[in-house]
Amino acid sequence: MAPLLGYNTNPMKIVVDGATHLLKQLPVHVGVIMDGNGRWAKKRGLPRTAGHRAGMKSVKTIVNASGTIGIKYLTLYAFSVENWLRPKPEVSILMHLLRDYLMSEIDELDAKRVKIITSGRTNDLEARARTILLDSIERTKHNKGLVLNLALSYGGKAEIVDAVKRLSRDLLAHALKPERIDEEVLRRCLYHPEVPDADLIIRTSGENRLSNFLLWQAAYAEFYTTDVLWPDFGEQDLHRALLDYQNRDRRFGKVKP
Ligand code: FPP
Repeated sequence: MAPLLGYNTNPMKIVVDGATHLLKQLPVHVGVIMDGNGRWAKKRGLPRTAGHRAGMKSVKTIVNASGTIGIKYLTLYAFSVENWLRPKPEVSILMHLLRDYLMSEIDELDAKRVKIITSGRTNDLEARARTILLDSIERTKHNKGLVLNLALSYGGKAEIVDAVKRLSRDLLAHALKPERIDEEVLRRCLYHPEVPDADLIIRTSGENRLSNFLLWQAAYAEFYTTDVLWPDFGEQDLHRALLDYQNRDRRFGKVKP
């Protein structure tokens, strides 16, 4: 039977820059802002689309590495609501790559018990990409390994707006009283309330912005940035981020006793 991804209960040894480390504290939910595809291509005199294609390889590597190491939830910021404003051919290539990724990887992802979910305004996606995405979600819905959350046509503000719309329907139907609304009630209206808040958010390419990613779920996330461009981001880079994370002192606004 294929190994179960996302179920590593033993602390894992990793080698970073020649030194062996024990990973004792793993983030449960890792979010990644995969930035720098365009710059990667420009440096090589290639079209931006070549950068996205190369970025897809990093997606494969990082999904696999995350599952192997025992991360439970991985959210990849693959296409934002703002990305619709990019030139049409670029949007088209990104939709094509999404289809390509799911079609070529679905057998392996399923065999490795990866469960695919998506966050975002799925209805806005190009029809063929949407169909393949929904088929992949359906096929893997009972898998118990790594949960791969593809953020597509996603915006953190849009997610909160969509949650408020859902909440308003309950209010109008008198199924909810305004005074009962608290953080937990609103949280349950997010795209995937079963996914815990992000513990670690990684952003590649040297930028230090959240760019409308997981605004609600990032409330107490640790932020890790690296100058590495997304198409160059590999397993070692992920391990470096995890190593950095385990040395963070997470207080969630409290003081240590
Ligand atoms: C940001 O780099 C990247 C994106 C907008 C798209 C990310 C897409 C992929 C990694 C490939 C496909 C993904 C899946 C899940 C199949 P940028 O273009 O903004 O880079 P730049 O800032 O250097 O221009």
